[in-house]
Amino acid sequence: MKATLITGASSGIGEAFARRLAAEKHDLVLVARSEDKLRGLRDELMAEHKITAHFIAIDLTAFEADKQLFEETEKHGIEVNWLINNAGFGSMGDFAKLDLDRELQMIDLNVSCLVSLTHRYLQKMRERRSGNIINVSSAAGFQPIPFFATYAATKAFVTSFSEAIAEENRPFGIQVMALCPGSTKTNFFKASNIDRALQVKGQQTPEEVVETALNGVTRGRTKIVSGWANYLGAVMGAIAPNALTTRFIAKALRSKYQGKE
Ligand SMILES: NC(=O)c1ccc[n+]([C@@H]2O[C@H](COP(=O)([O-])OP(=O)(O)OC[C@H]3O[C@@H](n4cnc5c(N)ncnc54)[C@H](OP(=O)(O)O)[C@@H]3O)[C@@H](O)[C@H]2O)c1
Repeated sequence: MKATLITGASSGIGEAFARRLAAEKHDLVLVARSEDKLRGLRDELMAEHKITAHFIAIDLTAFEADKQLFEETEKHGIEVNWLINNAGFGSMGDFAKLDLDRELQMIDLNVSCLVSLTHRYLQKMRERRSGNIINVSSAAGFQPIPFFATYAATKAFVTSFSEAIAEENRPFGIQVMALCPGSTKTNFFKASNIDRALQVKGQQTPEEVVETALNGVTRGRTKIVSGWANYLGAVMGAIAPNALTTRFIAKALRSKYQGKE
């Protein structure tokens, strides 16, 4: 069975990908930790769209989780021809005061797991000379962001890595794209312990982000920013010197995270 594997499919952008691609008759492998949500979504999508869907409930930050996930799909004879590396979370605050284990877990999920799954499934895609990989990055990755430092850096990695391997894999008929959403209405802010007051106005819906992503795939893009305001922000971020941007952002957030220190 050929299938699209989506990490972080239990909510937000991942769930929106699952719903949209099920409607387009993709068979699916849904991955996240929340077993009940995945089971419910699988049952609903199978009944509504007459597709085949599996779910694998797994903590992708656990030791060798990526290997376990890959072996599970191999065992069931699933050919992952679309891989959507979407699971991720963030954290905000004064880096020196943030919980180190949580910061490292974020790097494990947003970076290490994404790299491992990409590497594992690429081998098979190369053999078949076809495949599609969407790595969910963020507009936050276009510049260093004080008090959002680790998260922004993980997403800078994801975008750079994805654009580089997109070219490596072009001759093999494999398309790789970095998807860079801006602020999107999902569970991200709660899961990342980010104050509601810091949520940017004019958020996109996960469905809008997925629409942009699929347009990007159709147009053969290696990077796509979702939303015009986010695109303009990305352009400004690329033009402005990092020293200026970081000082400006730090000034706006310093009193919140460092008080009068
Ligand atoms: N929302 C935004 O403003 C925004 C903007 C730019 C980029 N993004 C990126 O978009 C992606 C999706 O986030 P979202 O906004 O849709 O947030 P979300 O609603 O919180 O979804 C995150 C998904 O990741 C899964 N996940 C989290 N930790 C996991 C773990 N250890 N193992 C396996 N799965 C895990 C969650 O499921 P379980 O809890 O069930 O495991 C959930 O399905 C992330 O990479 C995020 O960085 C979001």
